[in-house]
Amino acid sequence: MAAPDSIVVHPAHSMRGVLRVPGDKSIAHRYALLASVATGRSVIRDFAPGADCQSTLRCLQALGVEIFRADDSVIIIGRGAGQFCSPGGALDAGNSGTTARLLAGIIAAHPFPVTITGDESLCRRPMRRVIEPLSRMGARVVANGGRLPMTLTGGGLCGIDHVTEVPSAQVKSAVLLAGLHASGTTRVTESHLTRNHTEVALRQFGAEVAVNGTTVSVTGGQALTRVDATVPGDLSSAAFFCVAVAGLAGSSIRIDGIGLNPTRTGLLAILARAGASVEAEIESESAEEPRGCLVVRHRELRPLVIDPVEVPGVIDELPALAALATHGGEIVVTGASELRVKESDRIAALVAGLRALGAEADELADGFYVCGRRPLAGGTADAVGDHRLAMAFAVAALGARAPSTIVGAGAVDVSYPGFFSVLESLTA
Ligand code: S3P
Repeated sequence: MAAPDSIVVHPAHSMRGVLRVPGDKSIAHRYALLASVATGRSVIRDFAPGADCQSTLRCLQALGVEIFRADDSVIIIGRGAGQFCSPGGALDAGNSGTTARLLAGIIAAHPFPVTITGDESLCRRPMRRVIEPLSRMGARVVANGGRLPMTLTGGGLCGIDHVTEVPSAQVKSAVLLAGLHASGTTRVTESHLTRNHTEVALRQFGAEVAVNGTTVSVTGGQALTRVDATVPGDLSSAAFFCVAVAGLAGSSIRIDGIGLNPTRTGLLAILARAGASVEAEIESESAEEPRGCLVVRHRELRPLVIDPVEVPGVIDELPALAALATHGGEIVVTGASELRVKESDRIAALVAGLRALGAEADELADGFYVCGRRPLAGGTADAVGDHRLAMAFAVAALGARAPSTIVGAGAVDVSYPGFFSVLESLTA
């Protein structure tokens, strides 16, 4: 059921529970995209239910890919490399940057024009970071001042060496996916390691991927074969419950089946530094994404300074960590100007929303500061259509003296449909 657009969040004394969270959005996008260009019938269990991954599936269907759904599983009949059909109209990536950027990498292998567009937020986000390398590989790209809508006409790609300007798993992945369909070898080097789900998934689908420090290479022309895979729970969604537990005295939570890929667990180290008790145990690994059990317990909060080198590893968790600071902690984040070009300007909108709830918070050019020495008064915070801000404001509101209203709460459907009912069921 879609979340209503405004929701009232009541103060809570504590949070407790045992749960699973929806499948990881980043991993589900990659499994769907790779299954579409593999041969055979892939079964992807616990597929992410949020609107972003549904956008990826809809775009793939428009490109001629047959997709079936059964309960939480998605079955994809692969078309093989370079075998998409010309779609009838523009592909709509909705709110999803991962859909737009990763799909661009695969579409670049096809010799007919395909237009990718998105919602108002996505059409504001920078695309030059994928347009530049894909053009160097040989794709022709026409875009609206480096933004969506963009039309790509590809085919005949050549491998390149690409050094990313900002650490971005989406850019790395777009170039690697194009590289899979290019002649020669494609290498991507980043200044900081970003999430490696594309590299892991490519290997699961049978491709060879070389990793040397922060350089990843693939050789073109490798055929992918079908998989039977399960998507682990999304740690970026679980993050909101973990920080709520860390912030509310007497709280503890256990999350089962959660993704514990080390390129995504920066949050856990930071929570431990903030004072929380954090136990994570990997229960299944093999060639797949590591998954396991996570237990977080409240302990007294300590102030946090997030170093710029840590930022790529917690880029999606920074709004949650800001909310944690309102529970009597403190946080300073720098080196995070990428937050300004996410689903919203997450620095401006985060600070505005937390202040509206009564927090002491300030913008920095490339980050923010939040000091939680006094309990929040509560108020009305606008999530400006950004799913992670809606969830962060809800976590902050749990520690307020009075109920708070989150405007634009329906945005949670992008990554976590049902978030507010789960939150309510866990709080006392
Ligand atoms: C994602 C990568 C990150 C992250 C986004 C999902 C991905 O973006 O913020 O939510 O699935 O690759 P960037 O790679 O642009 O930093």
